[in-house]
Order: sequence, then structure tokens, then C-alpha cells
Amino acid sequence: MQVCREISDLRTRVAQMRAEGETVGLVPTMGFLHDGHMELVRRARAECDRCVVTIFVNPTQFGDPADLATYPRNEARDLAMLEQAGVDLVFIPDASQIYPPGDETIVETTRLANTLHGKVRPGHYRGVTTVVARLFNIVGADRAYFGEKDYQQLQVIKRMVRDLHMPVAIVGVQTVRERDGLAMSSRNVRLSAEDRKAATVLSKSLDLAQSLASKGADIAEIGNSLRATINAEPRATLRAVDIVQSETLAPVSGALSGPVAILLSAEFGGILLIDQREIIP
Ligand code: PAF
Repeated sequence: MQVCREISDLRTRVAQMRAEGETVGLVPTMGFLHDGHMELVRRARAECDRCVVTIFVNPTQFGDPADLATYPRNEARDLAMLEQAGVDLVFIPDASQIYPPGDETIVETTRLANTLHGKVRPGHYRGVTTVVARLFNIVGADRAYFGEKDYQQLQVIKRMVRDLHMPVAIVGVQTVRERDGLAMSSRNVRLSAEDRKAATVLSKSLDLAQSLASKGADIAEIGNSLRATINAEPRATLRAVDIVQSETLAPVSGALSGPVAILLSAEFGGILLIDQREIIP
């Protein structure tokens, strides 16, 4: 496994892969890897000749400097996991590589980035699209892999790629969960034992939503059940329950006639967690 820290080095190595006619799969990450990331790597390796992983804790997607400062990092452990998983190339730039001095270009999906979770975290998805566009330009991958857990992020990135005619296929990968249903996240390690247990209420409420949908419940009933279940957990502070059309993230109402996406966010001991599920009637 090769590790690059300079854009020029990365480009030389990717150019060699291309010269040999190989396809390149990209998995962008912020490090502190868990099995959710490794599932993205497994998919990239299965579908592409070469797998490139980027590790970059992107400052522009953090609103709160304290959140950025305390974001968990462990480069040595990440590299060991990636080596074990058979990754070909890891790119670990510093911020001045990605955001060169005098930098002033941003990329933003104007509506999708500023709805739903984007209202709770203003500027977050603008930071995501700005860094992901730069990583796409730097790496030049054929396919790029993102978890469905941040469902809004996935839709925002798909929209950006369509709008800017970027020559990369975006692949969404199903959320990987702990045995008790908690969606895997680098933030989970920051939860206290009690909050970690309480946080399973998110996946439980989504399971309940699917079973209500199967019994013919409408959107209002499903929304009320999600709110009541999460609010019944004393350690949870519910931030948002959104039931939306999958691609546009537009709100839906009335009877459930086809698949819709549920997006949840809640805080546990000050740690914001998100979860999502597509439900079908
Ligand atoms: O999902 C993430 O880890 C980040 O938002 C991403 C896509 C790597 C951009 O920094």
C-alpha cells in the first residue's frame, strides 16, 4: 500500500494505474475508520481495479471549532486497517494542499445543502461539496463510494456531480450497524456508556416506522411515532425527524404510496448523531 501526502505524488501514481488501463475507485474519509468505512472499501475493491482512500479532516464542514478540534484521529490505526483491507493508495493531505493560500472557490448545491440537517448545521454541506469536488479533481476516480447513513450528503454529492458534469459515478452504500442496531459512526466513541445504550433508540424508531408503514400507516402517523419513541428516551434530545422524497429531499405527506426516506438527528450528551432509512409501504 502506498501513502501519499502531496497532490503531485498522488497524481503520478494514479496516472500509472490509468496507463495500465485500470479503473480507480475512491473512498473519501475523515479517518478514524470503522466498519462502515471498510464496507465502502470492500465495495470499491470489488467493483474497481484499484482502490484509493483519502483521509482528510475537512475544516470547512465543521461549524464549531471545538467539534473540529475534538474530532477523533488515529492515523496509524487507520493505515493498518487499510493495508489489511488491500487498499492500493492512501492520500493524506494537509489543509494547505486542499485549500491553497488565497483560496476562494466554494461549491454549493444551493437548495439541497440548506434544507433539513443543513439548517441545523449551516455551511456544513457547502464544506462537504467544496472538499469532495477538490478531491474528485485531484484523484480523477471512475467511481466514488459514500455511506447512505448521511443520506442528505449522498444526495448533495449526486446533485453536484450531475450539475457540474463530473466524470465520476457515485455509489451509495448501505449503513453498517453495530449488533444492537446503532449506525456506525466515528462519533460513537465519544458517547458515554449510558448515552451509547440510549442511542439505539434511533434505529429502533426506524424499525418501528417500517413496521407501521407495512401496516398501512400514513406519513403523519409514522412521524408521530418516530417523535414519540425518541422523546420517550430521557437521554435523547431530538433535533429533527424528516420524511422526504428520496432524491429531492422534498417533504412528503398523506398516504404512503412508494418508498420515502426518513432522516433523523438527535443529541446524546451533546453528541449529535444521525440515522436514516428508506421505508416502503
Ligand atoms: O462523510 C465524510 O466522512 C465526509 O463528509 C467526507 C465525504 C469525507 C468529506 O469530508
